[in-house]
Amino acid sequence: MKINTNLNPEQIIRLEKICDEEFSRNSDTKTFRFKKLEKGIYLPTFDLINLYNVVKKRKFKDKKRVLDLGSGDGRVVFLFSLMGYSPTGVEYNEHLCKLSDNIIKPSLISERFKVKKAKFKQGDFLNEDFSDYDIIYFFPGGFNNYKELEDKLIKTMKDNSFFLVYGQKHPFEQLRPNSFWQRLAGYKEGKIMVYRK
Ligand SMILES: C[S@@+](CC[C@H](N)C(=O)[O-])C[C@H]1O[C@@H](n2cnc3c(N)ncnc32)[C@H](O)[C@@H]1O
Repeated sequence: MKINTNLNPEQIIRLEKICDEEFSRNSDTKTFRFKKLEKGIYLPTFDLINLYNVVKKRKFKDKKRVLDLGSGDGRVVFLFSLMGYSPTGVEYNEHLCKLSDNIIKPSLISERFKVKKAKFKQGDFLNEDFSDYDIIYFFPGGFNNYKELEDKLIKTMKDNSFFLVYGQKHPFEQLRPNSFWQRLAGYKEGKIMVYRK
């Protein structure tokens, strides 16, 4: 399937809304939002349109397989699926994993969102084989095992893969910001850093 970088922003806003509604309907929000789960804090990527714009601008030609490290309610995985990528989300928390796969995905499909390729696995993303992926996305809410993650990325991520990280400057020591502008003072595209190995 071709990569589609011409999504209607209304569609992305509707996607976020469905994720929010299904999350609220099906979760004890007190347990989940801003609370520490087994492996970190769950917060959704706040502005999917920003992520969409970064991916749209770069196009990531010939890049198809995407991995979201800790996929939460799955919205990033659904966004990549809408754009024609083959995305997988790995989420440790059982409730969130089932919510994305068994509730939000069918709900999106019933509204004709093309998200059939969105796949979810329950487990620790540090056990994944990163060499299977072209784009790896990470929103590190409360994550503190950067050293192990970076070592694994350096060892197993393919040379031509991209590692996209949401948020503030990150404590990586070996990964390189991809562009000249990003190397200069850690400039971010929107709120996202793009790294390579
Ligand atoms: C800040 S949320 C981001 C959710 C989603 N990626 C997004 O951007 O909307 C971080 C998620 O990562 C999960 N997580 C943290 N460490 C993990 C690990 N080692 N393996 C699998 N999931 C993990 C947490 O349970 C949480 O749901």
